[in-house]
Amino acid sequence: MSKIEVRNIYKVFGAKPERWLAAAQAGMSKEELLAKSGHTLGLRDISLSIEEGSIYVIMGLSGSGKSTLIRHFNRLIEPSAGSILVDGEDVTQLSKRGLEQFRQRKMSMVFQRFGLFPHRTVLDNAAYGLQVQGVAKAERERRATDWLDQVGLAGFAHQYPHQLSGGMQQRVGLARALATDAEILLMDEAFSALDPLIRRDMQDQLLQLQAKLNKTIVFITHDLDEALRLGNRIAILKDGELVQEGTPEDILLSPANAYVQSFLQDVNRSKVLNAAHAANPSRLTLTMRSRPAQVLERMRALDYAYAPVLDGKRLAGVLTRERARDAVDAASRDISAYVDEMASVPAGTNLEDVLGHLLRTDAPLAVTDDNDEFVGMLSRAKVVELVTPPEAPVEEAAEASADADVGATAEATPERAA
Ligand SMILES: Nc1ncnc2c1ncn2[C@@H]1O[C@H](COP(=O)(O)OP(=O)(O)OP(=O)(O)O)[C@@H](O)[C@H]1O
Ligand SMILES: [Mg+2]
Repeated sequence: MSKIEVRNIYKVFGAKPERWLAAAQAGMSKEELLAKSGHTLGLRDISLSIEEGSIYVIMGLSGSGKSTLIRHFNRLIEPSAGSILVDGEDVTQLSKRGLEQFRQRKMSMVFQRFGLFPHRTVLDNAAYGLQVQGVAKAERERRATDWLDQVGLAGFAHQYPHQLSGGMQQRVGLARALATDAEILLMDEAFSALDPLIRRDMQDQLLQLQAKLNKTIVFITHDLDEALRLGNRIAILKDGELVQEGTPEDILLSPANAYVQSFLQDVNRSKVLNAAHAANPSRLTLTMRSRPAQVLERMRALDYAYAPVLDGKRLAGVLTRERARDAVDAASRDISAYVDEMASVPAGTNLEDVLGHLLRTDAPLAVTDDNDEFVGMLSRAKVVELVTPPEAPVEEAAEASADADVGATAEATPERAA
């Protein structure tokens, strides 16, 4: 079930948003709206569905509406139109009291600039959300201490924020958000102020915590590498509109337009894509009991030099065309005595490591899943194709996006994204 359901959200900023909402809904561009009315289009017709227990990433250039969108979730911002359901409940309809409770219990937020109180100790900062909830002092200190331990800050409880590095301060922010036990974490550029190594550490830590906690996390970032590492799904915004939504693979393998494409230029594709992406299902799979003559004929017809041999769904080995011929020559009943071993790589192996395998041998390589079941044969051609970045924004992609964005007046603007 989806934890957060965003339905047709519009946000118009300015003195009289209700007067200009209809124009935005009719498709007036952000520029035109601003020129004509002095109002800013924050979001246009955004709908998304965020699954419980997932990390959902929102990406886009500065000013694309990421913060505006996430602030709708805990109603720091009221939509001009549309609704947001959290656990099936429309948060735009909550009473003042209901909203207070909802903010305290359901969601907590981690900010880019840490948002710590400078005159409170690390412990008091971490316990702040619990204090707001009215948890007694001893209990909130116990829980805050526990979370500080979990984020690697044992021993720093009585220091003040300015005595900690940026990375450590951000851990305090994370501990504070986690301590409230909120089911949903909203993280707005939470790691963006950190230098790259610390940032990677924090990403690892978030993934480790998430494996235990299974929260629903909405994570905003500018950085596609970070998005691809963390996100189960990614939404990409441009000028307040949703330009693409999908899994990291969807985004990487079929960017919707030149704007999305421009984010992909610097991504290390071989780290994100894996062996499963480069596997071809085999059109011919054999068993130990396959008959040599039939097999040889099929291999010739398909022009296959080898075929995988399965035992049930598991990989048992490989039969090369030569060995098939030997089996025919020997008038063997089946191929069992002619099957060789075949090397395999797990489906999740990233292409960088797959390339390592490919350089060591030119023998056929199978791809297997977690249960050791056969997924397909690794295609060398596909590996090469996948690790090669697409050419700089192609015409086709821009056209396709214009088709897809019905009602959008702004075209893809690669020059802005570049
Ligand atoms: N309170 C406001 N009043 C008027 N316009 C606003 C307000 N908040 C945001 N906007 C406008 O809405 C648009 C989206 O802003 P938002 O802060 O959501 O972008 P963002 O994607 O979070 O950018 P960044 O990456 O720089 O944080 C921008 O054009 C911005 O100027
Ligand atoms: Mg922002």
